[in-house]
Amino acid sequence: MSTSVMDPGTAMMTLMTPEGKRDPYPLYEALRAYGPLLRLGPDQVVVTGHAECFRALREPGLLSTDGPVQDRMMPGWREHSSWVWLTKNMLFSNSPDHERYRRFFSVAFTPRRIAELRPVVEKLITELVDRLAETGADGEPVDFMAEFAFQVPMAVVGHMLGIPKEDWPSFRGPVGAITTALEPIRDLAQLDQGDAGMDWMAEYFTDLAAKRRAEPADDMVSEMTRARDERGELSEEELIANFMLLLVAGTEAPMDLIANAVRLAVAHPEHADALREDPSLAPGYIEETLRFDPAAQALNRMAATDLEFFGVPLTAGTKVTLLIAAGNRDPRRFTDPGRFDPYRSGNHALTLSGGAHFCLGAGLARMQSEIALPAVLRRFPALALAGEPTFRDQLVQRGFDRLPVKCG
Ligand code: HEM
Repeated sequence: MSTSVMDPGTAMMTLMTPEGKRDPYPLYEALRAYGPLLRLGPDQVVVTGHAECFRALREPGLLSTDGPVQDRMMPGWREHSSWVWLTKNMLFSNSPDHERYRRFFSVAFTPRRIAELRPVVEKLITELVDRLAETGADGEPVDFMAEFAFQVPMAVVGHMLGIPKEDWPSFRGPVGAITTALEPIRDLAQLDQGDAGMDWMAEYFTDLAAKRRAEPADDMVSEMTRARDERGELSEEELIANFMLLLVAGTEAPMDLIANAVRLAVAHPEHADALREDPSLAPGYIEETLRFDPAAQALNRMAATDLEFFGVPLTAGTKVTLLIAAGNRDPRRFTDPGRFDPYRSGNHALTLSGGAHFCLGAGLARMQSEIALPAVLRRFPALALAGEPTFRDQLVQRGFDRLPVKCG
């Protein structure tokens, strides 16, 4: 069906199909044709406008999915460990718990702490590029997702948290499983794999915290566990829940950012060559990747009380779906939004959120991808696709499942 004549309900339904997730962008335009903020039913609105998403993220009356919100949205979730743990972390909580968690962990993400990490990140990335060169020697096709895009953020966040290197590979499966719990579901059984991933990871971090209590090291799990024991600002479960958030948020989305950036470089050789020549172009290139093909496409909020939003009355309990990937292509905000242009100035992508929940790891995500991208492109001047990429069946956390490449 042509998307230009699609009604909003059909466009939303199509967005949830594997084809829709593979290429959601025409569907966002079909929705935008009905306005930047669109009522889909008595208690659901969908937002495609940049200004509207931007404001929604800063509107205190629109809540993130905490326990009480989830009681309205997904009755039965309390039987599922994925969401039981998620609602104990800072992302899926609201004031005042949110501030309490965020204050506690933000000491590890100050610009100074991130800048101090830079040499370590450079070293980790050099090692991973060397390994990729070995795996892809003689033009052997490699899956870029498994062999590099996941490994970079896993090494970075694994190093920060103090996860022993030999355990890093065990995290990919559970991380992927946990992110499926963030997708819209029709049946609670769809949470089962997320539950299993979360159970595994909760046990892992509980064990790691116990080890670091017995024998502290120079890492975040030791630092935060000691701070909790001394100051008692968090419960033990809240501590573990937020370690898990840092691990999941710190790996899956950065993996997709790095892979999307490389995929775009292959599609735009002129930009890839410019980056090879001048790695200082990387920040603009990464910002444009975040705007054009974002790792996070949709965020959820719920109206806490009756309120008016851009002239639209929302009753308490209204579900507000923020299609931030659509907002990133709003022609009222960006000139020629469907064009990938790493030289765009004043790029204000919505991909790292905004307001209270603005991504705590934004600086870290940018730093590692700005190092990784030119490192890969310079090392592999003939980098090319070695087959069609496949997508995971996900929209909220959208990205490739496999990205086959040839390194030379
Ligand atoms: C490309 C990479 C990344 C993307 C696209 C991304 C995206 C996001 C988004 C959209 C949110 C807010 C969601 C909402 O408002 O509902 C968020 C929050 C968060 N992110 Fe990221 N993120 C990335 C990398 C990272 C990294 C590397 C870390 C840490 C190691 C991290 C840690 C967090 C945390 C802790 C929050 C919760 C903040 C809060 O609720 O106050 N993220 N991220």
